[in-house]
Amino acid sequence: MNNKELMDLALKARENSYSPYSNFAVGAALLAKNGKVYLGCNIENSSYTPTICAERVAFFKAVSEGVKEFEAIAIVGGKTKEEGRFCAPCGVCRQVMAEFCNKDFKIILGDRHHIEEFTLESMLPLAFTPTDLK
Ligand code: THU
Repeated sequence: MNNKELMDLALKARENSYSPYSNFAVGAALLAKNGKVYLGCNIENSSYTPTICAERVAFFKAVSEGVKEFEAIAIVGGKTKEEGRFCAPCGVCRQVMAEFCNKDFKIILGDRHHIEEFTLESMLPLAFTPTDLK
């Protein structure tokens, strides 16, 4: 599974976004070390605070099925009626990544045409992680 293939899956996942309040649709495709891919989209709520980001949906689907080792995530977002474009993960989602992933976990951002690759360490330096509690 290369970066482009993972981004194409994130674009597909974005089609299921439930975001009638922000009209901002996000898709994520999370590649586990076992080769499986977990898709997520943002899911909003009329009460607002129960809203969850696409990235966390993908992570929680995987973890709820016993999968906790990950290689990479592709993320794409943008106004619902527009094409998906570069969308950086929010701070809460970066913290969830830091719970389960190593510093070299790949974060793949971009759109249908251009893709950039980052590491979790570059996007969340000096992260507080489970090892800090040991
Ligand atoms: N959102 C995500 O799903 N992921 C991000 O990384 C940024 C924000 C969602 C949350 C909300 O439904 C909408 O985008 C606008 O903030």
